[in-house]
Amino acid sequence: MATKELILTNVTKRFGGLVAVDDLSFNVQEGQIYGIIGPNGAGKTTVFNCITGIHPCEKGSIKWLGEEIRLLSPHQVAARGIVRTFQTIRLFGQMSVAENIMSGRHIKSSQGWWHGICPTPFSRADEHKNWDKVGELLDFFNLSEFAVNPVGSLSYGIQRRVEMARAMATEPSLMILDEPAAGLNDNETLGLIETIYKIREKGITILLIEHDMDLVMEVTEYLTVINFGKKIAEGTPGEIQAHPAVIEAYLGSDDDDDF
Ligand SMILES: Nc1ncnc2c1ncn2[C@@H]1O[C@H](COP(=O)(O)OP(=O)(O)O)[C@@H](O)[C@H]1O
Ligand SMILES: [Mg+2]
Repeated sequence: MATKELILTNVTKRFGGLVAVDDLSFNVQEGQIYGIIGPNGAGKTTVFNCITGIHPCEKGSIKWLGEEIRLLSPHQVAARGIVRTFQTIRLFGQMSVAENIMSGRHIKSSQGWWHGICPTPFSRADEHKNWDKVGELLDFFNLSEFAVNPVGSLSYGIQRRVEMARAMATEPSLMILDEPAAGLNDNETLGLIETIYKIREKGITILLIEHDMDLVMEVTEYLTVINFGKKIAEGTPGEIQAHPAVIEAYLGSDDDDDF
């Protein structure tokens, strides 16, 4: 069986005249916690959009489990075990925490919407199994006490956890997190670090973009740094912190700690 490795080779994505991702290559190994950092507008989110089929790239190759996924739709990518969260939280604000997590099960489920209207014994058993799974995830993400609360009424820190729980509900092999610490306070960020480790313990590979450098240096094992869509460095957190090109990009940016 092919290893659960993600391999990007010479990926290029343009928006009109702007080259948002420029000939970018990197590999994420199975079980790794891998980071992508770079100044605002460097092309980080666009890389994630290329991988997940939201904005297919026009050049290069994206391989997952040995298969070329560059031109697959978001749904097809998700069906192959790649799931993501967004820089700006995208949840159903009126729906409860449990229902939001359940929506992740429905993405995975083979059942059609009509089973909700005309349930069969098989679809009922499936639904039962799905709610069991939601219960496990509420527990895993310390969300049980908020299970019935509408998501829109909860703090950012909790909403971020719900988003990750919904992503986990799809039973992914690779979880892609776009700035998971955005909007979190220090305590919530510490909780997030623990959660990331717990997710990896489940055998899930993690690829993350993050501005919080303390978090990046703490949790990631390997990093790629991009600027203007191009890779300027890669290495372990220790190597990256001492890398001249990174220091230059860091000091050269308008906002000193804005990676
Ligand atoms: N959908 C889009 N249409 C046009 N330009 C875009 C789009 N998405 C991103 N860009 C541009 O691509 C560049 C990289 O953006 P992005 O990937 O969001 O950067 P980052 O996540 O590193 O802050 C920016 O110049 C941005 O304006
Ligand atoms: Mg971004």
